[in-house]
Amino acid sequence: MPNTDEILARTGGRPLNSVLFSAERIAGRVTEIGAEITAAIPEGEELLVLGTLKGSFIFLSDLVREIRRPMEVDFLIASSYGSGIKTSGQVDLLYHDATGVTGKHVVLVEDIVDSGTTLNRLIPLLEASRPLSLEVCALLHKHIAADLVKEPRWVGFDCPQEFVIGYGLDHSEQYRNLPFIGAIEP
Ligand code: PRP
Repeated sequence: MPNTDEILARTGGRPLNSVLFSAERIAGRVTEIGAEITAAIPEGEELLVLGTLKGSFIFLSDLVREIRRPMEVDFLIASSYGSGIKTSGQVDLLYHDATGVTGKHVVLVEDIVDSGTTLNRLIPLLEASRPLSLEVCALLHKHIAADLVKEPRWVGFDCPQEFVIGYGLDHSEQYRNLPFIGAIEP
C-alpha cells in the first residue's frame, strides 16, 4: 500500500478517504483475468480488444500484455460524466470503427460499470456490427445498474459505492495516473 506522503505527493495534497486497491493487488488480478481471456479465445480466431476512453487506458494497457493471443486493439471514446460527478444519463460517442468488429471475438474493456448507461449504449451498437462474440471485461463493478443489457463476463473487483479515482479513473480529469485506486470526497 502507498504511504500517506506518497499519496499526498501524487494528489497535490488532497487526502483520500481510503486506498481501495493497491497497485500490487490490481496487477495480480489483471494477470488472472488475462489468463481467463486467453483460455476463452480459441486459437486461430480473430480477437479485438476494444477499450472505452479515457478511463480504461491504463487497465487495457496492462491487460492486453497478459492475453496470450494475437489481437487488434482499438478504442471508443464514450463520455457520460463531463466534468461532473454524476452520470449525465447520456453517453456521447465520439468515434466508433464499426467495420473492425464484424466476425471477430470482441472484448469490450471498461474501467468501471457504474449506472450502466455507457454499457447499455455501447452493447447494442456493437452487436449491430455482428461480432463473432461480444464480452465485457470491467475492472470495477458497482452492481447498482438496474437494467444492464449485458453483465460483464470478467470483473476485476466489486466496487464500493464511493467516488473512485486512479488507475485511469478521474475526478475532473485529475488523478488518472495514480497507480492504485482510491476513494475521495468528490
Ligand atoms: C466513466 C467510466 C465508464 C463510465 C461508467 O466514463 O470510464 O466508461 O463512466 O459509468 P456508467 O456505468 O454510469 O455509464 P466517463 O464518462 O467519466 O469518461 P472517462 O472515461 O473519459 O473518464
